[in-house]
Amino acid sequence: MTRLKGRHFLTLKDFTSEEIQYLLDLAAKLKAKKKNGEPMDVLRGKNVALIFEKTSTRTRCAFEVAAHDLGMGTTYLEPSSSQIGKKESIRDTARVLGRMYEGIEYRGFGQEIVEELAKYAGVPVWNGLTNEYHPTQMLADFLTIQEHLGSLKGKKLAYVGDARYNMGNSYMIACAKMGLHFVACAPKKYFPNEALIKECEAFAKISGATLTFTEDIMEGTKGADVVCTDVWVSMGEPDSVWAERIHDLMPYQVNKKVMENAGSQAIFLHCLPSFHDLGTTIGREISAKFGISEMEVTDEVFESEQSKVFDEAENRMHTIKAVIAATLRDMEI
Ligand code: CP
Ligand code: NVA
Repeated sequence: MTRLKGRHFLTLKDFTSEEIQYLLDLAAKLKAKKKNGEPMDVLRGKNVALIFEKTSTRTRCAFEVAAHDLGMGTTYLEPSSSQIGKKESIRDTARVLGRMYEGIEYRGFGQEIVEELAKYAGVPVWNGLTNEYHPTQMLADFLTIQEHLGSLKGKKLAYVGDARYNMGNSYMIACAKMGLHFVACAPKKYFPNEALIKECEAFAKISGATLTFTEDIMEGTKGADVVCTDVWVSMGEPDSVWAERIHDLMPYQVNKKVMENAGSQAIFLHCLPSFHDLGTTIGREISAKFGISEMEVTDEVFESEQSKVFDEAENRMHTIKAVIAATLRDMEI
């Protein structure tokens, strides 16, 4: 049996393809149990701390519901209601929370912060998104791919847009680990950094994955099984970058032409939130300033049959439940 008890979950780089597959299988099992109404409160009496230094809808709710389903208590710590980083160091915070909680989720800025937390907490620490990586999102996406396309290995995944931030990096790692053909479609300056590409090439050698980087969106998305993208400006980035991003990434918008180029077998994924219409304040502000009403994906693609974004969002909860459960106790599949 795969054993992950006591492990941190900071980036998929730290996990073998077997371990990742185990988490996906466990998530699928927990999902089926939940749909059947079977109880799964195997961690009754335990508690988790959820630290969010950036905002969240899915990740916070997924951790809270997953923990409650497992019988656990949760404490949500937002930046304004805790001392973290301002009056108390990460190292001290880790040692305090590690005395009270069985596990700690952290969403925030640099990866080195979640690593420091993990170093001193003495309990499993889970990365709920950093600037560099979003590993729980990858499990949700890969479970969704598995559900809709039947398998992972050998599938072509085209990531379109800012490929050097948390989502682009994480897709490259996850594909390299699990044997998918990863293609980043973006202007060169948005390609992932060389050091990470090198690490992923080593993973790809083992799994049979390939990694391709192209500025040609039509070549990159041709025949893709999965087309995915992310917002053009991520949390924590200054508003001043919008003009440049819109200029650089508009040619990389996922629209009907791109999905047709991929083919009818292709599914569309997006971690969300997404700017595909004018239903948000930021979307309306950008529209007033730059005259565009859709950004990284058109509303037509977002609302199409090929779009599986809400299955993907639901799977955040089932996969996060698998991560919490497997790192806190041995879980048979
Ligand atoms: N996809 C994702 O992480 O969403 P939230 O920012 O709402 O948690
Ligand atoms: N790249 C985005 C992902 C949000 C889930 C961000 O960091 O804001």
